[in-house]
Amino acid sequence: LSVKKELEKILTTASSHEFEHTKKDLEGFRKLFHRFLQEKGPSVDWGKIQRPPEDSIQPYEKIKARGLPDNVSSVLNKLVVVKLNGGLGTSMGCKGPKSLIGVRNENTFLDLTVQQIEHLNKTYNTDVPLVLMNSFNTDEDTKKILQKYNHCRVKIYTFNQSRYPRINKESLLPVAKDVSYSGENTEAWYPPGHGDIYASFYNSGLLDTFIGEGKEYIFVSNIDNLGATVDLYILNHLMNPPNGKRCEFVMEVTNKTRADVKGGTLTQYEGKLRLVEIAQVPKAHVDEFKSVSKFKIFNTNNLWISLAAVKRLQEQNAIDMEIIVNPKTLDGGLNVIQLETAVGAAIKSFENSLGINVPRSRFLPVKTTSDLLLVMSNLYSLNAGSLTMSEKREFPTVPLVKLGSSFTKVQDYLRRFESIPDMLELDHLTVSGDVTFGKNVSLKGTVIIIANHGDRIDIPPGAVLENKIVSGNLRI
Ligand code: UTP
Repeated sequence: LSVKKELEKILTTASSHEFEHTKKDLEGFRKLFHRFLQEKGPSVDWGKIQRPPEDSIQPYEKIKARGLPDNVSSVLNKLVVVKLNGGLGTSMGCKGPKSLIGVRNENTFLDLTVQQIEHLNKTYNTDVPLVLMNSFNTDEDTKKILQKYNHCRVKIYTFNQSRYPRINKESLLPVAKDVSYSGENTEAWYPPGHGDIYASFYNSGLLDTFIGEGKEYIFVSNIDNLGATVDLYILNHLMNPPNGKRCEFVMEVTNKTRADVKGGTLTQYEGKLRLVEIAQVPKAHVDEFKSVSKFKIFNTNNLWISLAAVKRLQEQNAIDMEIIVNPKTLDGGLNVIQLETAVGAAIKSFENSLGINVPRSRFLPVKTTSDLLLVMSNLYSLNAGSLTMSEKREFPTVPLVKLGSSFTKVQDYLRRFESIPDMLELDHLTVSGDVTFGKNVSLKGTVIIIANHGDRIDIPPGAVLENKIVSGNLRI
């Protein structure tokens, strides 16, 4: 009850133009918070989790083998591309939206996305729109930049996801005293995860607009996944299903390696496909969950979802996503929690869902500067906004790169490489401490460079390091 009162108090501070959307946000939050208080115990019963049946996760090759329709534009005209753009670049030391970080030849994530879709539209003479789901953290900066694309052949729409109040961990009351999110309230609000897309997209009116225009599917993905391009074979499979039964929800999954054992996996649960995240797994079963043999695949967050189904389920209030409780400590030291949901968790609410096991190339996320080094290097070539692995690389796998904490911020990382090394023959790179790289360095095999505290290592221009450990003055 006291939360309700606090929320009402906050709402009274909203100006007339803020009132309606603030009311919707706080109402959405109140429902989520209510569920959080009601739910006790684990959100899944481990005993009920089963390996998904054979035909519920199909290999991409099988989907591809069905080929393309004669008229590709007719299927493309049913598609809307949605990018999740609520996140900031803070984990890479950047201010502002993550999508505005430069990733390749001065192009940002957003530039590459626009180029990809523009290329599609020019090739097939279509008008596939791009929709950005912004958050209150990213909306203003993103909108300013969008003018840059006025002359591109891509119509860009935006809508805002909700803004929810962070909750004091002890009192379970909102930290915010009023509706503002600057000054002392800067840390009092948060975007409640990408699961918010269903309600926000519906509330924005865009869902109805697109249905009215005859669109049938959205392709949703993380804007920082450079491999999430529109795949015509998957789209064709959705539009022309072999058994005549349309899928309402397709999740692209890919094979786990030891590096991604923590990713959410698709399971069979009470007769339906269900996404299970590591946070939901009881401690005693975490190793089993991580095992590459029992749960072979993980969610790439590339999702294809029927617009009509989203509308139906949203109107029935039937989209069920587990609550993720995310604890945080604010700058002032206050412990808070924020309640979030994930877009893929809704798979269980849709009819006729399908997993498609796609090649690893469709999962190319850039979360750290180590990832950035890979996508900036000659391991990839850029073509109409899409990155493809260079044909000059002899193995199809990507090298394992671990840059130390002196490289965490994009600015520091850029300062430490005079040019991006040749990495075509690299398997493994570990760098730690105060290290810089001169121009035209080549890295091959396994290279480990460790500058101890107080030392600095400058790799000279033109150096070729092949299966080398460099540490202090000692070179082996
Ligand atoms: P994150 O970078 O936060 O998540 O967001 P992650 O580490 O990949 O893990 P998952 O996907 O949550 O499991 C992924 C994408 O979702 C957007 C981010 O901008 C990014 O593109 N996002 C995240 C939102 O749009 N809103 C949110 O509230 C959270």
